[in-house]
Amino acid sequence: MPAGESFYIATPIFYVNDVPHIGHAYTEVAADVLARWHRQRGEDTWLLTGTDEHGQKILRTAVANDTTPQAWADELVESAWKPLLKTIDIRNDDFIRTTDERHEKAVVTFLQNLYDKGLIYSGEYEGYYCVGCEEYKQQDDLVETETGDYAGQLVCKIHSRPVEILKEKNYFFRMSDFEQRLLDLYESQPDFVQPESVRNEIVQFVKQGLSDLSISRSSFDWGIKVPWDESHVVYVWFDALLNYIAAVGYGSDDAEFERRWPAVQLVGKDIARFHAVIWPAMLMAAELPVPRNVFGHGWLLVGGEKMSKSKLTGIAPNQITDTFGSDAFRYYFMRAINFGQDGSFSWEDLSARYQAELANGFGNLASRVIAMVQRYFDGQVPEPGELTDADRRVRITEQASTDAADSAIDRFAIHESLASIWNLVDELNGYITEQEPWNLAKSEETRERLATVLHTAYRGLGTLAVLLSPVLPQATAKLWTALGGEGGIDEQVISEAAKWRGSGSVTGLDGTLFPRIEQPAA
Ligand code: ME8
Ligand code: MG
Repeated sequence: MPAGESFYIATPIFYVNDVPHIGHAYTEVAADVLARWHRQRGEDTWLLTGTDEHGQKILRTAVANDTTPQAWADELVESAWKPLLKTIDIRNDDFIRTTDERHEKAVVTFLQNLYDKGLIYSGEYEGYYCVGCEEYKQQDDLVETETGDYAGQLVCKIHSRPVEILKEKNYFFRMSDFEQRLLDLYESQPDFVQPESVRNEIVQFVKQGLSDLSISRSSFDWGIKVPWDESHVVYVWFDALLNYIAAVGYGSDDAEFERRWPAVQLVGKDIARFHAVIWPAMLMAAELPVPRNVFGHGWLLVGGEKMSKSKLTGIAPNQITDTFGSDAFRYYFMRAINFGQDGSFSWEDLSARYQAELANGFGNLASRVIAMVQRYFDGQVPEPGELTDADRRVRITEQASTDAADSAIDRFAIHESLASIWNLVDELNGYITEQEPWNLAKSEETRERLATVLHTAYRGLGTLAVLLSPVLPQATAKLWTALGGEGGIDEQVISEAAKWRGSGSVTGLDGTLFPRIEQPAA
């Protein structure tokens, strides 16, 4: 996509019933890496995240804690959800809460519009409901457990908890009217839902036939009031999905809305149906553009199951960042898991990759090259002499890594992008080992060769700093300063990464980029 175009990416808005774990952080990091990458392409980029605060799940949590849902949400947002973004270095442009006035207004406008179009009618819902999912369930979303506390009962496949049976007067959205248009969308825009596994599941689901969707609840009142019938509150998912347009001016700022929408929706595959079926149907009903893509990433697993708040299997992000730092957190999850597939977190794997890839692979390369430019050339980056094949190979890899990393991002293949960048890390390390600049430094006769080798390595480091900045914002900022780079590292244009020449002088690195971890956390 050429510079100047707009790129809007949103994470799900998370339930504030509890504090975040590394699964939520995983989505945030992936969205932030993509946003930073697009920003460094020069695109007009916007990253939105936020919190989902209405509905029964939050209401019950608040009641169980002897407080009001509003007070509970305020507390959790300030003490846990906003701090998460600092812990893992997320550079979001906005943070929306579904209790924000701007959000509530947008929901009312949207709902009234659909009502006026005759796309909403009143009826009665009778069926299953999982409060954990905040979802109306069909028989085949449930299983009968044989053991444990709920033996013999029908439980939600995701939460392993009993579902409730509702019989309630509700308003319904004519979602079934949009079945064929959704199928046409998946067909004509095959990359609308990604990855392929999620797309297949979505297409199968819609082909089985869509029912109309209950979009209000009348048995409790923690939510946004239905404008024409205040005895109902808006169904929490219908409310929550609208955050993506509420935050960019829907119903209040047409210019901003035009500028940003549609978004790339990055979500976990657990909520792909809401984003790839209900959400585009809602938008079609309102005659608004559907999202650019819906990408449903995989789960972080614990013991083969999705890590979750409700199963108490969550690991707090700062348990990892306190020891390894935020850059390593970001790198590890983006590198070790194929984006789109499930993955397991392991302390051993994290420690091993930290040591081998970040400390020895990248960090040590940076320290050695900078130290040699200082020692042999007083910190003045030397002009190169005649190039050999080895020097040319490094330059070719710089360009090839840049191109491959950039095109992988367009396919949401963040892990592949990093693997391509690491080709350059490995190439440069091999180059230094082969060229042995410390030996070239022993004689005046090889001075010109030494200059060429260190110049080449220095350029390669600059390229790496630019390409790795979306994933390792802190380490690359430090490196950029040490290299004498001009401007902020986050202002450097990705496509120019391999053309970087530098300012001609280095300063010492303040410590190493990835210090030794004395006590790998257990
Ligand atoms: O579903 N692995 O919020 P939520 C990977 N409020 N990602 C995980 C994960 C795991 N084990 N656990 C959670 C909701 N996530 C709704 C969304 S959007 C309009 C409303 C991440 O707090 C992943 O992104 O249950 C997943 O989709 C999301 O957290 C669910 O967060
Ligand atoms: Mg959930």
